[in-house]
Amino acid sequence: MTSEDSVRTDFGFDYFDDLKATGYRGYRKDGNGDDNYLPWEAGREFCEQNNVKSANDWGCAKGYLVEELIAAGVDAVGYDVSEYAVEIARENGLPCEVMGYEGAADGRGREVDANFSLGSLMYVEEDQIPAVLAGLRRLTRRYLLASIFYEGTRQDLPDVWRKTTRPKEWWREQLADAGFVFEREEPMFDVFSVK
Ligand SMILES: C[S@@+](CC[C@H](N)C(=O)[O-])C[C@H]1O[C@@H](n2cnc3c(N)ncnc32)[C@H](O)[C@@H]1O
Repeated sequence: MTSEDSVRTDFGFDYFDDLKATGYRGYRKDGNGDDNYLPWEAGREFCEQNNVKSANDWGCAKGYLVEELIAAGVDAVGYDVSEYAVEIARENGLPCEVMGYEGAADGRGREVDANFSLGSLMYVEEDQIPAVLAGLRRLTRRYLLASIFYEGTRQDLPDVWRKTTRPKEWWREQLADAGFVFEREEPMFDVFSVK
């Protein structure tokens, strides 16, 4: 998809659960990992191993990571633009709220040990990325855990929603400019610390 007009922004039922649409066709807690290693599991293990006590999940969708972190004793909340997904999270008793990355740019959101950003930063307009990353940096005491679909990355979903398509090096530079130090790649996300 290259035309501006074709970029989708709704992230509603059709993106997550419509069996006939081009999205996830059923977004479930047990259906989003590689070889049965799930991102929520990876996030929980990271927090346990690094003594992370508080976390935000940006682009939390139905709150699966938040649920897993809370069960492990982490003070976690989720933010997402999708009213549809956040409503499901809240019906399940999870502390998730409708707020997109512009909230981070505006100084909203909590300051926490770790901010998670799994598969969602590329839905931000490119010209907004520096302000969003600077905002995330202000809210991060220790770590940013990010997975981004880079230019050239194979994706299971046809991504008519993506707004920023850039190579890994471009993202690393943006993150470095915002004050995030690249530490290492892990199977489910890249680990960045703060200076
Ligand atoms: C590919 S899904 C990833 C969901 C979840 N993080 C995961 O790893 O399964 C992308 C998520 O980003 C959310 N999203 C899209 N644009 C966003 C924005 N501007 N701010 C915050 N979240 C956004 C979508 O609603 C969706 O839940």
